[in-house]
Amino acid sequence: MSAPVIAIDGPSASGKGTIASRVARKVGFHYLESGALYRLIALLSLREDTLDETRLARLAGEIDLAFDDGEVLLDDESVTEKVRSELVGNRASEVARLPGLRQALLARQRAFRRPPGLVADGRDMGTVVFPDAELKVFLTATPEVRAERRYKQLIEKGIDANLRALSRDLRERDQRDAQRAVAPLAPAPDSQVLDSTALSIDEVVESIVGWWRGRTGGRA
Ligand code: C5P
Repeated sequence: MSAPVIAIDGPSASGKGTIASRVARKVGFHYLESGALYRLIALLSLREDTLDETRLARLAGEIDLAFDDGEVLLDDESVTEKVRSELVGNRASEVARLPGLRQALLARQRAFRRPPGLVADGRDMGTVVFPDAELKVFLTATPEVRAERRYKQLIEKGIDANLRALSRDLRERDQRDAQRAVAPLAPAPDSQVLDSTALSIDEVVESIVGWWRGRTGGRA
């Protein structure tokens, strides 16, 4: 039997990363932030100034990457700050449209599924990468609240940001992610939709952990 998976999908800045990593800690599972894989490829795509599908798919299969306690490492170089930039995020949603690249990343994502279990966040965790996930959550919030959360996050980190430009970028990214031909952003039919607009991080985490414990009869 393969290790259980909790899949958490949703649009940009819906809080998936924070929520998913806390859920993972609470239930004692590994954590995969699949967006970081797309961001790593986006960083290479910018560095090499290419959107060539074959080249990027090849890099996706070959690169040496590691996630270590919030750090993102590419061939031993720490690229944590770089991959979190809006520039890289926007490029990520462009490279994410390439079917060959998505295919190349499938195996890499599935390799994170190890005992005692995995919490994976992204856009297609419940629909494509882990269709047999035991629990699927689709996390949403209004575009205004998501833009404000992202804005606060950047300002807190001392990064200059503009709320209007952020809202526009988010809208464009949502549209690209929802309308692409392969693995578009959409809730899996068997997912629980959770609107976090009026909820705190703790409330969202508690809901998901509660659903999980309900399913496993309190074993995890
Ligand atoms: O989640 P995050 O904002 O870091 O993801 C960056 C981009 O990577 C998204 O806008 C999306 O286009 C792409 N992505 C994806 N599938 C995933 C995770 C991220 O297409 N599972």
